[in-house]
Amino acid sequence: MEKFVIQGGNTLNGTVRISGAKNAAVAILPAVLLADSPCIIENIPNISDVTNILVAMKTLGANIKTINKSTVEIDPEHVNSFVVSKQMAEGMRASSYFLGALLGRMNKARVAPPGGCNFGVRPIDQHIKGFEALGAKITFESGLVEAYAHELNGSSIYLDVVSVGATINIMLAAVKAKGLTVIENAAREPHIVDLANFLNSMGANIMGAGTNIIKIRGVDTLNGTTYSIIPDQIEAGTYMAAAVATGGDVLIDNVTPKHLESIIAKLRETGATITEYDEAVRVEMHDRPKKCNVKTMPHPGFPTDMQPQIATVLALAQGTSIVTEGVWDSRFRYVEQLTLMGADIQVDGKTAVITGVESLNAAPVKAVDLRAGAAMLIAGLVADGITEVEEIERIDRGYEDVVEKFSALGANIKRIYTPEETEILKQA
Ligand code: EPU
Repeated sequence: MEKFVIQGGNTLNGTVRISGAKNAAVAILPAVLLADSPCIIENIPNISDVTNILVAMKTLGANIKTINKSTVEIDPEHVNSFVVSKQMAEGMRASSYFLGALLGRMNKARVAPPGGCNFGVRPIDQHIKGFEALGAKITFESGLVEAYAHELNGSSIYLDVVSVGATINIMLAAVKAKGLTVIENAAREPHIVDLANFLNSMGANIMGAGTNIIKIRGVDTLNGTTYSIIPDQIEAGTYMAAAVATGGDVLIDNVTPKHLESIIAKLRETGATITEYDEAVRVEMHDRPKKCNVKTMPHPGFPTDMQPQIATVLALAQGTSIVTEGVWDSRFRYVEQLTLMGADIQVDGKTAVITGVESLNAAPVKAVDLRAGAAMLIAGLVADGITEVEEIERIDRGYEDVVEKFSALGANIKRIYTPEETEILKQA
């Protein structure tokens, strides 16, 4: 069982290069299935969620050529299967995007329900509402979601909740439907805009992505294209939070500062000095963080995927902060782990009251989900002693080269494969 072992106490200094966005990649790769000819996708993060998607695409019949670590060429011409099995879908939330993509390509899809992080109930009723509005019939057979349409026709769809997944899935299914589809109360995340830009570069006609009304005029065919995925907003935010927590000075390179506005605003409230460049931000922190209150919301609000990381910064702040989760029912499972390290956090429903402590102590902890795992890494970097983080396959889902990147900034972090290695490290 692999784990990360971190000797805390080093401040982070230097430059870190941010990879392509996970949540854009896991939408854009299935979207390739809608093309008639090969696509070259650049700036793909080398993470297990992406590997799982590519394996699933191969199983469906796509021909995939790796050009380099972050670039693949995908030829969807011979895709003839419309089934994503339970085994293929396991562990990835984004398996649901195969529903929209296969429905858009072949008017039919049979896909196992999505896995991914456990934040309580993760319904897909809004995805289904969208597919049905386009004319698909949805059934549940032997644990798989089945979507079938004789023909897809554009329609007006109002989302009852702002859902990233439903917005993406409806775009995928509607892009080749007949006529005009309008998604109202659409999500506005940067990866929604990235998917729309990608589809438009294939010949789609999508307007309004990035606002809460997206209009999709169906086209008959989509061509292959070459496209580069946007930088990962949450990976960038994670390194920014780590720089603040450790009192470091880090240049976060290859980012779109506009996508980081809410994170920059909140980290400035904690006392960090943040300088924005065209494609980078510099984060400097010299004092103990100050308290601040955070409420997560759909974009352009503060991202829920940064909630555990900023809570870890606030666990070390002077004073008491309130963190409110505004997207998921249950995203505080990591708090139990942080309290093992000495954090003082009380959770009541969707609110956490964080009374800052001067320091954290090392402890064996678990990555209970992807971003919770990122929070454990930040906590380990500042804690006194050696922190062991287990269940790190969840961190590998979304962070490329995390050991290499933190080490290059001066952190003492290692990936350990056996218990013997842990012992040797402790005695060193
Ligand atoms: N919701 C419904 N019905 C639906 C869909 C969603 O009620 O049909 C609710 C959810 O229960 C939740 C809220 O709407 O309360 C928002 O869910 P959303 O659909 O936006 O989430 P998602 O598409 O499943 C994506 C990201 C998550 C991120 C959320 C919110 C991907 C692959 N995943 O999930 O990212 O937390 O949007 O921004 O894009 C992560 O990267 O760590 C991660 C969990």
